[in-house]
Amino acid sequence: MTWLITGGAGYIGAHVVHALRAAGEQALVYDDLSTGVAGRLPSDVELVVGSTLDRALLERTLAEHPVTGVVHLAAKKQVGESVEQPLRYYRENVEGLRVLLEAVTAADVRSFVFSSSAAVYGMPDVELVTEDTPCVPLSPYGETKLAGEWLVRATGRATGLATASLRYFNVAGAASPELADTGVYNLVPMVFEKLTDGAAPRVFGADYPTPDGTCVRDYIHVADLAEAHVATAQRLAGAEPGTDLTLNIGRGVGVSVREMIDVINEETGYDIAPEITDRRPGDPARVVASAGRIADQLGWSAKRDVREMVSSAWAGWTRA
Ligand SMILES: NC(=O)c1ccc[n+]([C@@H]2O[C@H](COP(=O)([O-])OP(=O)(O)OC[C@H]3O[C@@H](n4cnc5c(N)ncnc54)[C@H](O)[C@@H]3O)[C@@H](O)[C@H]2O)c1
Repeated sequence: MTWLITGGAGYIGAHVVHALRAAGEQALVYDDLSTGVAGRLPSDVELVVGSTLDRALLERTLAEHPVTGVVHLAAKKQVGESVEQPLRYYRENVEGLRVLLEAVTAADVRSFVFSSSAAVYGMPDVELVTEDTPCVPLSPYGETKLAGEWLVRATGRATGLATASLRYFNVAGAASPELADTGVYNLVPMVFEKLTDGAAPRVFGADYPTPDGTCVRDYIHVADLAEAHVATAQRLAGAEPGTDLTLNIGRGVGVSVREMIDVINEETGYDIAPEITDRRPGDPARVVASAGRIADQLGWSAKRDVREMVSSAWAGWTRA
């Protein structure tokens, strides 16, 4: 099958491209390079540079290539920025998806995989978040992901497109150093940045109702996440029209910020104690996935632990 991967030059998208190719699938990338890096792509994968808001270019791309499935990762993803620029986030993430779905449903595409996020859950007050936990996003970014799921599901129902919304938890690591995350928006690169500047990593709040007082999250290695996309794509390719999956992608293991910083210090050879500052507004104490549904439905589960996430991310960070 030929898959069109929007956002395929991004951190996660490039991993998905490499994983799909390793599984014997054909890949074509559509990316506006606003945050993506063309050099992450294998040299024989075609890159169409354009926005998901450009319906004419999308239609031309779909007409010129035998695309039967789409993996849609192209989006803006910074929570804080989405609070300041909600209109831009709705335009890129919701309008961009709507335009893409118009082009997709007019072409011979049968499967559609959508990048959603654990941000759709907001502040879940449960030990393990299942896909049936109520979605109450706290930011415009999370809202755009939830609205995106609605759009994808409704389109599948109306047209027979087989769809999946994948709710990623906290993504970290790299399959190889050149594919590493170049942004400093998540805990691991934020701690790396502080340590390499000789500064103390910051912990936002150590008085949460968790075992060590710091926030607990579910970290997933990006290589595992990419393999989950392959499993989902291959399932959709053989599925009944209108199939509709909503799946958490996590490990089902909670790791606190303090534990993560300890692993980072061990793996990088630094030994700088963190500085505890005030809580950030809107940070839930604990967000850990129930990973049962994807294991039941696709037979997929994560294989890599936080140590592998940190060491591979560090290899990417120190590559330059
Ligand atoms: N990184 C995470 O922890 C995380 C967690 C949950 C969900 N997600 C979702 O995963 C997806 C990929 O995230 P990432 O971390 O790889 O981010 P990224 O910024 O590295 O990748 C996004 C890619 O999409 C491209 N892009 C953005 N807007 C576009 C548009 N309108 N048209 C065409 N291309 C566009 C960018 O150039 C980039 O290559 C996003 O949808 C994000 O919301 C990421």
